[in-house]
Parts: sequence; C-alpha cells; structure tokens
Amino acid sequence: MKYASLKSIASYVPSRCVSNFDLEKMVDTSDEWITKRTGIKTRYFAESSEATSDLATKAGQEAIRRAGLKPSDIDMVIVATLSPDYIGMPSTACITSYNLGIENVPAFDITTACTGYIYLLSMAKAFIQTGEYQNILIIGAEKISSLLDFSDRTTCVLFGDGAGASVVSATENEGEAIVDVHISANGKYSDFLITPACGSKIPASAEALANHLQFIKMKGNETFKLAVKTLASDVEHILQKNSIAPSEVKYFIPHQANLRIISAVGEMLDFSSDQVVVTVDKYGNTSAASIPMAINSVYESGKLAKGDLLLLDAFGGGLTWGSALLRFGGDSL
Ligand code: ACO
Repeated sequence: MKYASLKSIASYVPSRCVSNFDLEKMVDTSDEWITKRTGIKTRYFAESSEATSDLATKAGQEAIRRAGLKPSDIDMVIVATLSPDYIGMPSTACITSYNLGIENVPAFDITTACTGYIYLLSMAKAFIQTGEYQNILIIGAEKISSLLDFSDRTTCVLFGDGAGASVVSATENEGEAIVDVHISANGKYSDFLITPACGSKIPASAEALANHLQFIKMKGNETFKLAVKTLASDVEHILQKNSIAPSEVKYFIPHQANLRIISAVGEMLDFSSDQVVVTVDKYGNTSAASIPMAINSVYESGKLAKGDLLLLDAFGGGLTWGSALLRFGGDSL
C-alpha cells in the first residue's frame, strides 16, 4: 500500500509588519487589550500590489525546492483560502500553478477557512492513495487584510496575511507517512464567521459596500467557546483512535487564532510548553496559512527532523474543524 508523506514545508511572510501600537493609531484599541485577550503582538500585511496568489507562489516555490523536486514533478495543486484573488473564477490555484510553471494538471481552491490546511492534507492523502498522483502541492494562502474592516476593532486586530505550502508525496515508508486525518463541519453555525456580501446571496452593490458587508464579521465569544470544546475533543479522538499518548507527540501545532484557545486546549490535553508551537504572537491569525506557517517556524529553527510525530488541529469559519497526525517526511534544514 502506498502512503502519503509530508515531504516539505515552506512559508512566505509579507514584509509590512504592523504592531498593536500601529493599530492603536487606526482604531479604538490598545496593545494591552490585544495582548491580554489574544496574545498577538504583531501581524504582517501584504502590499496593495500583492494578491493571495503572489504569496502562494512564493511559499509554493520554496516547498517544491525543499522537496527536491521541479515544478514539472507536481501533478496537482490545491489552494485553501478565504481571500482568493477573485470571487468565483479563476481559482487562486490556477493562477498560482501558472506562476510556478506548472501547467496541464488539476488545480483548484477549497474554502474551509482556518481549517484549510487540515482539509488539504486529507485530500492530498486520499488522492495519493488512489495511486494516480505522486506529488501534490498544497498551499494555505491568505491576504485577509483585503477583507478586514479597519473601523471594526473586534476583527481588524486579529488577522494577518501570509502563505504556507507543502509537497505531499507517495511513499512506501510508513515511518514518514501521514498517519490519520479527521475533518468535519457544521453549517448550523455559518453565521459565526461570515463575509456577508459580494457572493450570490448579497451581490456587490453600493449599499452593501456602504454598510461594510464585504468584510469579515465574527461572533468572537461564541466562536471562542465552541473552538475550545471542539478542538479538545477532536484531538482526544484522533489520539485515542490511533493509540497514541500525548507524550509521544513531538509537536502539537494548533491553528493560531488566540493564545488563550491554544493554552486552554494544550492544558486540557496535558501537553508541555515544549510540545506546543505558538506563532500567533508574531503573525496573528493567518487562517488557512496559520498551521503551515507554524510548522515552518519549527522547521526553520532546525528542530524538525524526519519521522517526528506532529499533531495538527484547527477550527474555523463554516464552521469547519479537523485534526491530523503525521510523521514529518522531509529532511531537516
Ligand atoms: N480593543 C479593545 N476592546 C475591544 C476590542 C479591541 N480590539 N475588541 C473588542 N473589544 C471589547 C468589546 O467591545 C467588549 O466590550 P464590552 O464588554 O464593553 O462590550 C470587550 O472588549 C469584550 O469583548 P469580547 O468579544 O467578549 O472579548 P473576548 O474575550 O471574547 O475576545 C476574541 C474576543 C479575541 C475575538 C475572542 O472571542 C476569540 O479569539 N474568539 C475566537 C476566534 C476564533 O477562534 N476564530 C476561529 C478561526 S477564524 C477563521 O476561521 C477565519
């Protein structure tokens, strides 16, 4: 049986760093409130000339290089994003593939908000296991700043831009394989995180734009409570199903939305602080890019080795959630 393996990890962070103090000058907020409630200190925003596909291209290029491959070796490209270049078409994956010199292979986007990377892993694993695909490029990329209302302090302080990418390849070696991925969703809570306008429900109009309906709205408190509960039970489930104890996990890498959520879930599951990876302080919530950017931070610190067991966990708009257990299949930096 062929296994699927995470062969590489890479990320791209835009150059414009925005601190909480910068935001204090734009909206009625404070460094103290943001730090205490979220753990975020800085986030990075893309330039107005950059689109999500530009961020995705940079991360994708490096992921292919780190996997020791050429663009022509890639036989599928999937991008997870809630901030695509265009509403509807063409997909960000098509544009990114072309930028990378990858042509005439399937390329498509998925919309699962912050759970994007877990869904990508699940799909890449399934496609590889059909035996028809060898190397799939998966990318979580977001220019969320284009969806932020900078007059709404309850959302604009939380998010950042960025991209994270991986190549998932076929392998015969179980010791470097994705062990298990669990994904789920419940549309009952679709209004918890929503960009109300510019889709078919409320098409773009002067009135919609005047009411700022093209921007992200979030029921933060309700989402927070559900996130902690769902993430903890999801992680417990995947560990139990695979008979793995928390102590066997090298790194627990949850979606980076809020330090309080990460700490609560980490404590409920008895992970030590050495096991829990935190990047939300630096990058804010980069949605589909958050988990691969966090994996990449461990990789670039030189502390990620082939065979290390990673536990990933995410929760986001939809609502969607999921977790993944995998052994890293790439070489250390
Ligand atoms: N600065 C100062 N005050 C603020 C700010 C701000 N930026 N934002 C809100 N406040 C105020 C509120 O107005 C409120 O004031 P009030 O008590 O006078 O009404 C007070 O702070 C408390 O607001 P809450 O919303 O109750 O604050 P909470 O502690 O819940 O923190 C937060 C808000 C950070 C959004 C938190 O609820 C959260 O992290 N939620 C989950 C986010 C998440 O996991 N999302 C899923 C992934 S995202 C995706 O899929 C795209």
